[in-house]
Amino acid sequence: MSTQSKIFWLRLATLIGLCLPAAELAWRWYADELGPRPVTVATHATGDWAVIFLLLSLAMTPLRATLDWTPLVHLRRRIGVAAALYAGAHLLIYVLDQKWNLLVVATEIVKRFYLTIGFVALLALVALAVTSTDGWQRRLKRSWKRLHWLIYPAAMLAIVHFFIQSKVKIGEAAFAAGLLTWLLLWRVLPLRLRTSLLGLVLLAIGATLATVAFEATWYGLVNNIDPARILAANIDPDLVPRPAQKVLMASVAVIAVVAVRRGVAAANRLWTKRYIQRTIPTS
Ligand code: HEM
Repeated sequence: MSTQSKIFWLRLATLIGLCLPAAELAWRWYADELGPRPVTVATHATGDWAVIFLLLSLAMTPLRATLDWTPLVHLRRRIGVAAALYAGAHLLIYVLDQKWNLLVVATEIVKRFYLTIGFVALLALVALAVTSTDGWQRRLKRSWKRLHWLIYPAAMLAIVHFFIQSKVKIGEAAFAAGLLTWLLLWRVLPLRLRTSLLGLVLLAIGATLATVAFEATWYGLVNNIDPARILAANIDPDLVPRPAQKVLMASVAVIAVVAVRRGVAAANRLWTKRYIQRTIPTS
């Protein structure tokens, strides 16, 4: 298969994958399968998918570099736009929940800190999605890169919004925060370490410890729980899997995939070299 058709199929599969959660949610809502509070379920589901796609779009550059697989760069833009669309749908469902009373919605956004930061994150995501086209990239020239740097504060605000609304059950928010930490730390690593296995091991350790720190800090500050208890919970086999353990598993999975891919590439190179030596006469 030519590279062009590979990219075409990859883009098509991505587009279908990005639409599936929305289609499934719409179908379950239509079929009355969302339980007694469909609007709440839909608010949570769209918020979750917005964060998932936001993290996935940020993962494209590190994955392309570590897996040495260029086609991934063609997916980053559409996954980012999907994150903005899911976040937009999330707000729309919230407006529906408020019976379309825009004054109440605006007052709530101003009054409640977690909604204010969600709104700021949404504005940034929409601005990035709108200016993600080649046309805007040409028009904004160097400012485009500066503008698109907004993705990092927007992602951080979205995660803080996730934490605050989670109240006492912050497991998923802490997991998302750990993954975001991995993605941000990768970007500040020295270039040589970014693609080396040593760099990935350091990232796994850093992101895992950061997740434990997020959990302990949150429970310490908000629920007055002794951080030592959170540390103990992270090594208690009865409480598996903790968010930090999930971050560690995801980081180890990346290391394993990169190691296998490099092993296969090295074996291929060796085999090709031997085959050429055996089949092509040297004199
Ligand atoms: C104006 C903007 C926003 C509003 C009004 C809003 C509103 C809400 C509300 C009402 C909830 C549920 C709170 C509860 O049940 O107590 C929620 C949860 C959530 N929101 Fe937002 N949000 C906004 C922006 C965003 C953005 C930009 C993102 C992500 C990119 C996001 C991600 C989430 C997530 C992940 C949850 C939790 C879902 C879960 O617990 O499963 N929100 N939001």
